[in-house]
Amino acid sequence: MPATLLVTWATRYGSTEEVAHAIADDLLRQGLAVNAQPMREVRSLERYNAIVLGCALYMGRLHKDARHFLASHRAELMQRPVALFVLGPIHADAKEFAEAEKQMKKELAKFPWFSPASQQVIGGRFDPERFGFPFNILPALRKIPANDARDWTAIHSWAGNLPSALRPSATR
Ligand SMILES: Cc1cc2nc3c(=O)[nH]c(=O)nc-3n(C[C@H](O)[C@H](O)[C@H](O)COP(=O)(O)O)c2cc1C
Repeated sequence: MPATLLVTWATRYGSTEEVAHAIADDLLRQGLAVNAQPMREVRSLERYNAIVLGCALYMGRLHKDARHFLASHRAELMQRPVALFVLGPIHADAKEFAEAEKQMKKELAKFPWFSPASQQVIGGRFDPERFGFPFNILPALRKIPANDARDWTAIHSWAGNLPSALRPSATR
């Protein structure tokens, strides 16, 4: 069966990739033909009917691979339904979520043509043990306790709604 839906991600420490795989698995279980691939390996979107993008926030910005992906696949993304999930808040804290939402919207405002059918901020994972350069040399960051704020119930619930959210707009 040819893959018709692409789940693609941009990650630094792997938490976004784990969420992307969970979403791809859910979509497969729902009977969709899914391909899962990191954004930096995707060359063309031509074979896909719909796209799920996932990336993390770093210093208030979308991961650079995601910014690059949006810029370089603009025409293809405009022609297909797209859903976006963005990892960020490292605690289940309403203020952190509101801040991440604000950061995501500010970043997306730089791509005014981009209009996802669904977009979702998701809690992230923070673990200073995993840091490489340059974050491993920043004492303030290393002092923050590790935490995994990914809410798997919310993630599976969002994935469950994707087939209808990603239906071509004429039939939605
Ligand atoms: C150095 C650093 C900066 C971060 N900056 C932000 C930020 O500005 N906003 C936010 O909501 N989350 C921020 N986060 C949290 C990450 O988005 C979160 O840890 C995410 O799960 C990382 O994804 P990854 O493991 O796929 O790289 C930051 C994390 C690190 C380590």
